[in-house]
Amino acid sequence: MPSQFPAVRPRRLRRSESLRSVFQETAFSLNDLVLPIFVEEGISDFVPISSMPGMMRIPESKLASEIERYARAGIKSVMTFGVSHHLDDTGSDTWNEDGLVARMTRIAKDAVPEMIVMADTCFCEYTSHGHCGVVHNHAVDNDATLINLGKQAVVAARAGADFISPSAAMDGQVQAIRSALDAAGFFDTSIMAYSTKFASALYGPFREAGGTALKGDRKSYQMNPLNRREAVRESLLDEQEGADALMVKPAGMYLDIIRDIREASRLPLTAYQVSGEYAMIKFAAQAGAIDEARIVRESLGAIKRAGADLIFTYFAMDLAKEGI
Ligand code: PBG
Ligand code: ZN
Repeated sequence: MPSQFPAVRPRRLRRSESLRSVFQETAFSLNDLVLPIFVEEGISDFVPISSMPGMMRIPESKLASEIERYARAGIKSVMTFGVSHHLDDTGSDTWNEDGLVARMTRIAKDAVPEMIVMADTCFCEYTSHGHCGVVHNHAVDNDATLINLGKQAVVAARAGADFISPSAAMDGQVQAIRSALDAAGFFDTSIMAYSTKFASALYGPFREAGGTALKGDRKSYQMNPLNRREAVRESLLDEQEGADALMVKPAGMYLDIIRDIREASRLPLTAYQVSGEYAMIKFAAQAGAIDEARIVRESLGAIKRAGADLIFTYFAMDLAKEGI
């Protein structure tokens, strides 16, 4: 029998739903998702974040019950961001033993001890100028900020954080934090490094969510979005400094970078689907332009396919409620 052209037919494996699912190469589960949350002190009700439909600032007094609700839904990890009412020049509330960083970490761990709590470790939500560190002569002072990062990390570790997650984009921040943690005896507290963090316009909605005071930009410390070699260099530096896991942020527009770092390092790699990525999907879905449930799965699946192990995403609770 002469074979019928074409002999090679990839469509054979797409003929039914069962064939398609059996031959699917990539999948993600709730284990892979981290829910970032915003916790505000001094308020009594949830505050909707208008630039991020469906997301709310959580009053500190309701954090424990929220964490319990996430755990019941199957969420394994959260990343905590504080919305502070105690701003100053340096963000000193972050290393106060009874400041917001310490309190929200303790509340979350006390509510559900098995919940993995990653403490975002930065200053921009606690400084009056909104920069991610100490400002000297109109510039962010790298080395002065490192000292404060160490202090904040120890406070968060003492409060029970499983991961210290420095997002300040200072040179040497992983090593500075590792040394400070070890000197205080917190050998088992891990570091989730925001190792490749771009100065992205996709952080726009976060600035409303976190209530940051920033005028200007962070281009002198966060990376140029158009640099690929430097992106790998930054993550490898954090690996050498002792990071336990690496991160690419944002995620969806940076899949090439995720793949590059996946191939350059053996550490667990994470990616952060940021506020602007969330907002673009939500608003397009609200306008009827796209199917939200499908686009959420497609975007997270693509981030997995590119090489991420864990994904930070504001859609984590939606997916948990839908049973993924
Ligand atoms: C600040 C910080 C930002 C995000 C996480 N930590 C914003 C920024 O760097 O300006 C962005 C998260 C998001 O947009 O979802 N250190
Ligand atoms: Zn910051």
